[in-house]
Amino acid sequence: MKNLKNALLLKQLYLLKQLGYRYTDAAICKGIEPDLSLPDTIDKLRTQALQCHLCELSKSRKNVVFGEGNPHAKIMFIGEAPGATEDSMGRPFVGRSGELLTKMIENVLLIERKETYIANIIKCRPPQNRVPTPEEAHTCQPFLLKQIELIKPRIIVTLGATAYHYMTGDETGITKVRGTIREQNGYTLIPTYHPSFLLRNPSAKKEVFEDLKKVKVLMEKLVQ
Ligand code: URA
Repeated sequence: MKNLKNALLLKQLYLLKQLGYRYTDAAICKGIEPDLSLPDTIDKLRTQALQCHLCELSKSRKNVVFGEGNPHAKIMFIGEAPGATEDSMGRPFVGRSGELLTKMIENVLLIERKETYIANIIKCRPPQNRVPTPEEAHTCQPFLLKQIELIKPRIIVTLGATAYHYMTGDETGITKVRGTIREQNGYTLIPTYHPSFLLRNPSAKKEVFEDLKKVKVLMEKLVQ
C-alpha cells in the first residue's frame, strides 16, 4: 500500500507542476489523503486498472492485461507480466507460453482454461519483456491482492521465480521450491516453472507434470 500511496502522491505533485507550481509546501498535500480503497467487484476493479497510470509502463503499453477467467474460480494461475501478444490483445497468456499453459490445464488438470482465473504480477508489459522492477511490482500489487480477495481461490499456482517471489516474499530459487505446498492467507500456494522456461527447456516438463499432479490431488480434495 505504501507504494500505491507514494505513486498517488507523486501523481498529485506532477499535476501541481503542470499547473505551474515550481515549489510546494508539503502542507498543500496534507489533507488531500488519496482514496486508497479499491472497488469491491471484479468488473469495477478491471475498469480502474484499465485507467491506471501509476507507473512508467502505462506509457509504453498498448493494453492493460487485467486477467481473465471464472470470477469464482477455485484455482488461479499467476504469471510474471504480459508479453507482446498479451499486450496487443489485452489478455493474459495468449502467446506461445499461453498455449502451453492452456494445454497443461486441459491435459493434466482435466478442466477447461475458462474454469480457472489467470493473472500476472504486473498488468502492463515491460519493454523488451524485462523482469518487472520491484517498484513496478509493488505499485501494481494492490490490484492483484484485491483480485485474489474477490475471487477467493483455494489454490494458487505461481508460474516462475518472479511470481513466487512477489506472492510470498521468499527469495529461495524456483528450482528448490517448485512443487512445494504452502498455506497462506486462506489458500494453498504451489510454485512451478514458468511455461516460457519450458519452451526453452522442454526436459523440465516432467517436473511441472509432477507439480500439477499435486495440484490435481488438492483440487479433488476440495470437492470431497
Ligand atoms: N508470460 C507471463 O508471465 N504472463 C503472460 O501473460 C504471458 C507471458
